[in-house]
Amino acid sequence: MTVSAQNVPVIAIDGPTASGKGTVAQRVARHLGWSVLDSGALYRLTALACMQKGVADTNETQAAQVAAGLNVQFDNGAIFLDDRDVTEAIREEPVGVFASRIAAFGAVRQALLERQRAFQQPPGLVADGRDMGTVVFPNAPLKIFLVADVAARAERRCKQLKEKGFPANLTSLMADLQARDERDRTRSNAPLVSAPDAITIDSSNLTIEETVNAVLDHWSKSGA
Ligand code: C5P
Repeated sequence: MTVSAQNVPVIAIDGPTASGKGTVAQRVARHLGWSVLDSGALYRLTALACMQKGVADTNETQAAQVAAGLNVQFDNGAIFLDDRDVTEAIREEPVGVFASRIAAFGAVRQALLERQRAFQQPPGLVADGRDMGTVVFPNAPLKIFLVADVAARAERRCKQLKEKGFPANLTSLMADLQARDERDRTRSNAPLVSAPDAITIDSSNLTIEETVNAVLDHWSKSGA
């Protein structure tokens, strides 16, 4: 990364699965005319590539090799893996579960680190994930920790999956979310925790628009 890229402002939005980070990040970025990093997509892409190559979710070395060698293009909201459109495929629940398992491996996280930092380009970046404010962009001038209670999140995820035509069951989704939260929070590598200087927003009872406005408000007040 060049010195000037390091001065490009970043809004880091971290939080648990299905807290609305992705949608909020997209809208905040659109409002500011900035680009967006969906870091979870990189873990999902690594997971999908591992699944296709028959790499087990317990094999740290091979999963890290897959992460380092990912051939990915992000193109206007579409995501390509080895020139194949996988925009929808990476959103399937088994891919998310596999992603959260390999995301616990330090070697996988290390392999994806510079790829994520390369998104810090002018005029600004909104980055969403689990460790944007703690590890990937620790100097981000605004860090948001976006939470929502598990029932609200399971309902949102259920609706999202059904809209995309995937099968979804609320009870099993809730159990999946809880297991995934637990894994993300308790892993030793880059666990899901709020950065000490992050602002927590609870979106359980907020619309997307209200959440987006809350983030934009914090940004204008930050004076960055
Ligand atoms: O955000 P999303 O659900 O798409 O991410 C998929 C998985 O990737 C998460 O469950 C989490 O384990 C992992 N992840 C991560 N660090 C990030 C983004 C995602 O560990 N910055």
